[in-house]
Amino acid sequence: MTANKRIIISSDHADIAMRQAIASHVETRGYTVLDIGPTTNESTHYPKHGKAAAERVASGEFDLGILLCGTGQGIMMAASKVKGIRCGVCSDTFSARMIRQHNNANMISMGARVIGEGLALDIVDAFLDAEFEGGRHATRVDMIEG
Ligand code: RB5
Repeated sequence: MTANKRIIISSDHADIAMRQAIASHVETRGYTVLDIGPTTNESTHYPKHGKAAAERVASGEFDLGILLCGTGQGIMMAASKVKGIRCGVCSDTFSARMIRQHNNANMISMGARVIGEGLALDIVDAFLDAEFEGGRHATRVDMIEG
């Protein structure tokens, strides 16, 4: 199931090292990963990175996206403005599982200044291992999409 999943990853400057650790972790799990940066710790603007990744998920080029900024909030807001994107900030594994199972999220966002790298990797695993349950949840997700 993981074999064909294409994952795009981005962040702002908040924690490049954590984003790169996530990218290699996901790649090690057998996913096709594109880390679109940025590559330096130079201050940048999270909206452009969130939007850039979200557009490539919304277009179907990537199946899922993983985002990181200081709190996870700003980059999530930017990604969520793109039609077809369902993204939420997760700081625990329960939410990361449920956001796939019930909300059919196609992107997840995390706060690099909120959680540590170990938890971030567990959250990513919970997100990737979960499957959308459909059924009554599909009705509700359709209502989000309008
Ligand atoms: C950047 O300092 C910080 O504002 C950003 O990473 C993020 O936390 C915004 O939501």
